[in-house]
Amino acid sequence: MDATGSRRVALVAARGETEFVAGAASRTAGFNGSYLGPILRLPQGETEISVRNEMDETISSHWHGLVIPGEVDGGPHQPVAPGDTWTIALPVDQPAAPAWFHTHMHGRTAPLVHAGLAGVIQISDGQDAARGLPVDHGVDDLTLVLQDKRFDRSGRMVYDPAMHDTMMGFLGDVITVNGQVGSTAVVPQSIVRLRLLNASNARLFDLSFASGRPLHLIATDGGFLPAPVSVDRISLAPGERAELLVDFTAAQGDRLVSRDVANSMMGGGMMGNRAGAGPFDVLAFATDSGVQGRIDHLPEDLGGSRPRLDGSNAPRRQISLDMMMGGGMMGGMMRRLTGASTHGINGRSFDMERIDFEAKTGQVERWQITAPMMKHPFHVHGTRFQVIAENGGAPKVQNRGWKDTVLVDGSVDILVRFDRTAPRNAPYMYHCHILEHEDGGMMGQFTVA
Ligand code: C2O
Ligand code: CU
Ligand code: CU
Repeated sequence: MDATGSRRVALVAARGETEFVAGAASRTAGFNGSYLGPILRLPQGETEISVRNEMDETISSHWHGLVIPGEVDGGPHQPVAPGDTWTIALPVDQPAAPAWFHTHMHGRTAPLVHAGLAGVIQISDGQDAARGLPVDHGVDDLTLVLQDKRFDRSGRMVYDPAMHDTMMGFLGDVITVNGQVGSTAVVPQSIVRLRLLNASNARLFDLSFASGRPLHLIATDGGFLPAPVSVDRISLAPGERAELLVDFTAAQGDRLVSRDVANSMMGGGMMGNRAGAGPFDVLAFATDSGVQGRIDHLPEDLGGSRPRLDGSNAPRRQISLDMMMGGGMMGGMMRRLTGASTHGINGRSFDMERIDFEAKTGQVERWQITAPMMKHPFHVHGTRFQVIAENGGAPKVQNRGWKDTVLVDGSVDILVRFDRTAPRNAPYMYHCHILEHEDGGMMGQFTVA
C-alpha cells in the first residue's frame, strides 16, 4: 500500500480465516486481509491514516519505530473500540527506515499479534534506486516477516500459552515467512535485498545462509548505515528489523537458516526452551535465470549517518527487566493462577495509571538496561537510540546503527534522546518485546515535556 503519492492510508482490522496448511482453516486476524497487514510505504511528511476496528474487541495500532508524538503513537492509551475508526495525521520526520505496526492493548498484545494484527512499514525517501539498491518489490527486493507457530494435528494454528509459555514466551515449532509455511523465494541472479522483521511473540532468530555466503547489512531499526557491512550472521529478536543485501549473481540456491537460541532461566534446565535443539530452516532460495536482476554490485554509499550523541552530562537511568518470581517458581505459578503480574521492570509491573518517569525534549539520557535471568529484547517508543556498550564492551556490529529495539543479554547501555512530546494522557511505553512478558507487566511508561 504505497502512500507516497496519495498520503492516505485506510486500515481495517478484522477477524478472518487463513489456511496455513492446505485444507485446515485457522482463526486469524489481519489489517485489510485475513492475516497480517499490507506493507505500508510511507513518505516523509504527513500522511492521513484511519484505522477501523471490525474486531470483536478493543485494539490499537502502534507505529513501532516511528518518532512521532505520544498522542498518535497508538499505544494502550489510544484504544480503538469495536466499530470505531481512529483517524490521525501521522507526521513522519525521520530518515528512511524499516518500521512496523501492531496492536498494543495491555494484556492483549500477545494473543492479537499472534492472531495476525501486525504489518510492515517502510519509511521511504524515494532515493533507493539512486542509492544503487534493488527496488523491484517481490523480485529483487523482498520483505520477509519471520514468525513461529504451533499447529494442532488437523493443521489449525493454536495459541494456548501454558504457565511455562507465559513465563518464558510462546514459541512455535513451525516457521512462517509472510504467513506461509515451506515456501521458496525465487530470486534473479543479482544482488537481492531482504527486509527482515521478526514479528514472533518470543523467538530469537540467529540467521545465516547454509552456504556461509556473507550478509551485507545495510539498515537497522532506525535507518541506513553509512555503507554496507559484511557479517556472517545476524541475530533478530522480536521487534527487531534488519535489511540485508545478498549476492545471488553466482546462480546458486541457498537456505536461510537459524540457530536455535535457547532463552531460559536457570541455564536451560527444566524450564528451558528446547535448549540444545539444532539449527532450522527459515526460507529456501532458488535463482531464476529468466528474471533480469538490475543490481550486480554492492553500493558504496548508503547515506546513513549516526553522529555520536553527547552523553557526557547525561542523567542516568537504571532499568532492570525482572521476572516477578516472588518465592521462586512457585511464586510465578501462584501469580499466574491468581492473575497477578508475572513480569516487571525494576520490580514493578506495568500500571496504566502510573507514570514511571518524566523526560525532557532534547535531553540526552544514558540508560543501562539489565536482564538478570534471561534475554529480553528491550524497546522504547518515540525515539531512535544508540547502543554504546554491551556487557561493558563494544556493541555488536549489528547494533552500531540507529536502534529502537535491542536484545539485552546481560547488560546494554544506550544513549537516548526524545525530540517529540508525550503528555500524561498519552505517554510513551518502554518494554520487553517478548509479547507474553510485555502483557505480563514488563512495561513502563513515561512522559516527555
Ligand atoms: Cu512494537 Cu511497544 O511495541
Ligand atoms: Cu514501539
Ligand atoms: Cu522479556
